[in-house]
Amino acid sequence: MTESKPVILTCAQPTGQLTIGNFLGAVKNWATMLDDHDCYFGIVDMHAITVKYSPAELRENTLSCAAQYIACGLDPKRSNIFVQSHVTGHTELAWLLSCITPIGELQRMTQFKEKAAKLGFNVEEDNDLKFTHEGARAGASVNSGLLMYPVLMAADILLYNADLVPVGNDQRQHLELCRDLAQRFNHTYSDTFTIPKSFISKQGARVMALQNPERKMSKSDENQSSTLYILDDPSVLKKKIMSSVTDSGSKIVASKEKPGVSNLLQIYSSMSGRSVPDIESSLKGEGYGTLKKEVADSVISVLEPVQAKYKELIDDKSYLEGVLRSGAEAAQQRAYKVLFKVYRKAGFVERPR
Ligand code: TRP
Repeated sequence: MTESKPVILTCAQPTGQLTIGNFLGAVKNWATMLDDHDCYFGIVDMHAITVKYSPAELRENTLSCAAQYIACGLDPKRSNIFVQSHVTGHTELAWLLSCITPIGELQRMTQFKEKAAKLGFNVEEDNDLKFTHEGARAGASVNSGLLMYPVLMAADILLYNADLVPVGNDQRQHLELCRDLAQRFNHTYSDTFTIPKSFISKQGARVMALQNPERKMSKSDENQSSTLYILDDPSVLKKKIMSSVTDSGSKIVASKEKPGVSNLLQIYSSMSGRSVPDIESSLKGEGYGTLKKEVADSVISVLEPVQAKYKELIDDKSYLEGVLRSGAEAAQQRAYKVLFKVYRKAGFVERPR
């Protein structure tokens, strides 16, 4: 039985291709934790509809997302991979949690403000309820799902009584809200939820944009040659790496003054498993061109088998569906237990059998 192992849960939005940053995170955070934890991995399609999207793309991206994570080393035999909308309880719990969440707390969330700002809205600091919408695109509005996003995320976590939640730094605030809500619920009713701990991936493993190493590598970078996707063709990977921005001087050393070179060394080290000093000394006297070539070789040699595995998976739809079916079954079993307990505590009459 896996009952006594700590529960680890994380989720990802099915938004297209994973970057090598996601890859390194998945390998580092997941592949190594599968054995000592009861693992849940959710593909959160319900979060994905809080912004403008295309249903056909969402459908395709959801399966592709599962295949990409499995190809990256998330072993479906040792973890439960499920799609959020396949499990009853996420939105139900989100509703209960919303009833103990002040609107103001949600309006103060950094990510909400950023997303609202992208639509041209500005949430005033000193007034919880008012939006200024000078500059909002004609016909634009901020939907309440966007505001509720962190509550749904809290529900994702609490529904499984997760002990540990690996997230990126940008999700730290959402996780804090989740912990507050769990405490508030426990306090209002009685002890129900485990207070989850975040597991923030180490700063050192951050992959920066190839064209601007001061910024994080991101899917939404307007300069797409900055971003390495795990499914990029090897020739594309090579081209992007060879044209990456380096720094003045010619020495291959990691330092604050050399963000470009440091980033390449970091990528090389993460991909090859070699330490940065080891790489530095093996490249002593060489130029940036050699460094880039070796980085490209290491990235390609790691990603080639991942790409082969992905191809095999995406062509085998029935296998993928099988993985998602058993993932959802396991998730549902755990989710119902927690949901019904919560319903009881909230004073809902038990469903007549
Ligand atoms: N908001 C997270 C992100 O964009 C995705 C997410 C949704 C999540 N629910 C979650 C992450 C629960 C961890 C746990 O990255």
